[in-house]
Amino acid sequence: MSHTDDPHGTRRDFLYYATAGAGVVVAGAAVWPLVDQMNPSSDVQALSSIRVDVGGVEPGTQLTVKWLGKPVFIRRRTEEEILEARAVDVSSLPDPFAENANIDGTAPATDENRTLDGREDWLVMMGVCTHLGCVPLGDAGDFGGWFCPCHGSHYDTAGRIRRGPAPKNLPVPVAEFVDETTIVLG
Ligand code: FES
Repeated sequence: MSHTDDPHGTRRDFLYYATAGAGVVVAGAAVWPLVDQMNPSSDVQALSSIRVDVGGVEPGTQLTVKWLGKPVFIRRRTEEEILEARAVDVSSLPDPFAENANIDGTAPATDENRTLDGREDWLVMMGVCTHLGCVPLGDAGDFGGWFCPCHGSHYDTAGRIRRGPAPKNLPVPVAEFVDETTIVLG
């Protein structure tokens, strides 16, 4: 995986891609292909983990990486984003469950349950709208998180669905820091 810092600070999303699919992700309105890769076998999942260098990610920006054929958002949140996410009454959410592969799926969708252990500024999520699979846009929507332009789903700064047709929060994959600047997915 290559790693490029943004020298000008003008791009909010950094994108690391080896394929021509990058344009699709940037546009954000295209449907991510709903093919076999959406449901890799457990064998494939067991073998598929990637390391991501997040050393250059500033607060308020995010990386999008491709993992198991799907985009994954890795966001370093600002203090404001964290406070906003933590002020939400979880019982009022359309989907009050954590959607976090690391913890019990019936756990509440608190900000703590959706962020990396001990690193509350880091949020890692599948970048696939839970409505019909479009790639949501970052820093967008009525709740300051992500917005899916396909049919108007708004996600908050913890990636939880707040308004629109998407039924579920953006899923949180298995992810952890293995050193100061490296996150392993899977
Ligand atoms: S696919 Fe995202 S709102 Fe329909």
